Amino acid sequence: MASSHDSDHKCACAGGLSRRGFLTSVGTGAIGAVATAHMASAATADAPVETIDAGAHVTVALLVNGTTHRLAVEPRWSLLFVLRERLGLTGAKAGCERGECGACTVLVDGETRYACMTLAVEAEGHEITTIEGLMHGEELGPVQRAFVEHDAMQCGYCTPGQVMAVEGLLRTTPSPTLDQIREGVSGNLCRCGTYAHIFQAAERAAELKRG
Ligand code: FES
Ligand code: FES
Repeated sequence: MASSHDSDHKCACAGGLSRRGFLTSVGTGAIGAVATAHMASAATADAPVETIDAGAHVTVALLVNGTTHRLAVEPRWSLLFVLRERLGLTGAKAGCERGECGACTVLVDGETRYACMTLAVEAEGHEITTIEGLMHGEELGPVQRAFVEHDAMQCGYCTPGQVMAVEGLLRTTPSPTLDQIREGVSGNLCRCGTYAHIFQAAERAAELKRG
């Protein structure tokens, strides 16, 4: 997942498929086929099925912004929930919480990812970066500075996700074209319509990062 492009946002439940590819593939027919296959295999499998009680916790070690946090989580908890409600990292926002808006975007191993569609247990063993991790002490990082310079926000709710989308884009594409920028943030919606300023901020952030 090299950028924050809509088709590049991956979700935990998609097994590595892009968001768009996942949504396309899981139409009613696909769901029926999967359910049928699952029932058939369940009926024939000899191996005992491993279950976990509702509300049970498992311990995970999450590497977030360079710090390892060991904590007990329910297997159903999303990475977004754990970041916000257990680690106090509220930069990633809860918008749709179903992989549509991008407000929750973080980097996992340097690639953009919807934290609402990623299980916390799935994130173990990976390097997670939130918008708080782009700071250099008390100083804003280059993408954050560029957003301020270009006034690339109104209400600001989508802004952390937009910043992370641009950060992810620039890590793989240091000198993006306007089309690449548009594509890079296409998985992030802004209901205030600040797109023109976001594109300008992304171009400026590229300059700042290149020094
Ligand atoms: S909150 Fe995750 S995509 Fe909207
Ligand atoms: S600045 Fe309000 S949603 Fe983007």
